[in-house]
Formats: sequence, C-alpha cells, structure tokens
Amino acid sequence: MVEPAHGKRFPKASRILATGFYVLFILVTSAGCGGGGSTMTASPTPTPAATETLRAKAQARDLIIGTAADSRFLSETLYAATLSREYSELEAENEMKFEPIHPAPTTYNYTGPDNLVAFAQANSMKVRGHNLVSHGQVPDWVSSPLTPWTPSSLSAVLSSHIANVVGHYKGKVYAWDVVNEPFNSDGTIRSTIWSDSPGIGFAGQGTKTIEQALLWAHAADPAAKLFVNETGAETINQKSDAVYAMAQDFVDRGVPLTGIGLQLHVETSFDSASTLESLSQNIHRLGALGLEVHFTEVDVRLQDGSATSLAAQAKTYQDLMKVCLAQTACKTFQTWGFTDMHSWIPESYPGFGWALPFDETYAKKPAYASLLKTLQ
Ligand code: XIL
Repeated sequence: MVEPAHGKRFPKASRILATGFYVLFILVTSAGCGGGGSTMTASPTPTPAATETLRAKAQARDLIIGTAADSRFLSETLYAATLSREYSELEAENEMKFEPIHPAPTTYNYTGPDNLVAFAQANSMKVRGHNLVSHGQVPDWVSSPLTPWTPSSLSAVLSSHIANVVGHYKGKVYAWDVVNEPFNSDGTIRSTIWSDSPGIGFAGQGTKTIEQALLWAHAADPAAKLFVNETGAETINQKSDAVYAMAQDFVDRGVPLTGIGLQLHVETSFDSASTLESLSQNIHRLGALGLEVHFTEVDVRLQDGSATSLAAQAKTYQDLMKVCLAQTACKTFQTWGFTDMHSWIPESYPGFGWALPFDETYAKKPAYASLLKTLQ
C-alpha cells in the first residue's frame, strides 16, 4: 500500500488555483474529444427522479451512503445540491479533528462543523464524527508544550477534549471515529503523542490508550456508536490481525466498541478476486464478533482520466459496493469526498487524481453509474 505524502494539512490556495486552471482546461479541451466517459459540460447535471439517486437506492438496501464534506464548500450550489441529493450521511473531512476544533487550550472552534451538522439535519442526513484521537492534525500546543506533559496532565487534556467535543455533538453525531489509525503495518501500536511516554499513561501497554479513549467517548455520549478507524487494515494482514485481536479482546471485556472503520483509499489494482475475497473475510470475522464495519474513506485514485481508467475505476467501485452489500456487518459505504473538484488525492498522492464518483464539474462519472446499478 502506498502511503500518502505527509506534511500537508489543508488544501492550499495554489492547489485551488491549479484546480481552477485544470477545470478551465477541461472545459476548453473537452468539446468534441468525447474521452473520459462523463459529460464534461459547465451546465449542472439535471436533477434525476428522486428514486434514481445513490441515496434512495441505498436506503432501499438498508445501507447508509455517505461522504466526507467540508463546510467551506456548502456555499457552492452544485456542491450542496449533490451532497443532499445523493448522500444520507456526511462526515467532516477535517473540521472535527483536534487541531481545527481545539486550536488552543481553552478555545473550541465549532463554527464550521456546526454548519455541516445543520446542513445534515436540514436534509435529514446522519453525521459521522471524525476523529478524536490521532497521530496527525494535532495542534502545536499539544505536540510542543511549553512545559512537558506528565501522564496525568496529558490525560486531562485528552479526556476533557473528548468530553467537550462528543458532548457538544451528543445526539447529533451518530458514530465517532474515536481513534484514527492507531496501528503500524506490522500490527504494533503506532508511536503518537498519546500512546508514547509520557502520553496518557499507557505506553507499552498495548491497546490501553485506545480503550481509555473509547471509555471517555462512551461516557460523553452513551448512545453514540464508537469506532476505531484504520488504513491498510482492509484485507487480512498483520495490521488487520492486530485490529481483530484488539476487537476480540474489547468485545470479550465489554469495552464500548461498536465497530471498525476500513478506510479503503485504493487503486484499481485492489480490484482482484483474491484481494476482494480477503476483504470479505476480514469483514466477516469482525461481523462474527458482533461488530459493525463501515467503509469510511473510499476513493479509487487514477493516474489519468482516460475512458479506460474511468471504466476500471467504475468496476472497482462496483466490486467494493458488492462486497459491502454481501456482508451484513457492512452498514455504511462512505467515500472521501464526492467530487474530483475537492479531493485530497492530488495533493497527497502526487501524480494521482480522478478518484471520486463525480468529476470536477459535478457530472456523474462511470463510477457513479456503476454504484447506482449495483445498488438496484
Ligand atoms: C485528510 C484530508 O482529506 C486532507 O484534507 C488533510 O489535509 C489530511 O487529512 N485518512 C484519514 C483522514 O483518516 O483524516 C485523512 O484526511 C485521509 C487519510
């Protein structure tokens, strides 16, 4: 699995500018080229009959279909219209993470995420929360403190962060990614400000840091579904074995864990019979513990937008959806954004893009059609 380029936290102005030029380029060059398999026009996609949407089809299959979203884009008419028409759930792509939501010791910034929640409520959508504990997007006041943390002082920071954020969204966020990406590829615990020494006091004690975070989140909203969200733990491998062992232990001891998030940032090479079978087996073993599985961050990155690549991508989306539909534990199919206009891929995986079901003009790509068809 290729790891994303690091050190980039938010879409940069340069990228937005570059995207603008790219869209202009597409609009100018697409006339008559016919490639790409999607309608490249500046005019809005006509509103389909309400039943011909991902949202309506997924509802009929008892599946939540979601996407990452950002409140900054809600003012774009096509962004808001597509989001509410096609999805039954949204998740803040960045705005509920520690750094943006808790930028200074006594400052919480709820404006952006509250706008997302209000949008979801106005459109009868569910909200997934992401995330409470992570190695990344931690503010300087936490990662470079003026006086060194002790286990009890850092523990107080994290417990009050979780109580404050989960409490703020109590009854509004139905599921939280409580801990994000806690494992290394070999199944050991990832080094983070929280899990290391001093950390919150459980360095060297395996999954104890995760367990403590789940307990704090559960105390703040006993009705919220609580998840550990991982990348690279989709198929059976050392990391997913460690996730499974943790899950089994937590279930055995009654630690409040509802399920596991599988991110699924993939390339079309993921779409092979053996890989999909391994994914199915992994979901199945987690389901056998009584846990839910959410596909939390699906995107299928490409190196070009040719018709051939878009067709392979459509097949990949279709096969991922088939796996989810075939496993009763798989309750949510969520993509990491929905339009190529706003995707983390070009910045984080240089040379890649075209990863989502709608193109930069919000036209439906072959991937959209294949998802819709699979949901029939
Ligand atoms: C990414 C966002 O999409 C970017 O905008 C940001 O710059 C970095 O974080 N796994 C996760 C998400 O769990 O939080 C990451 O989101 C993508 C990988």
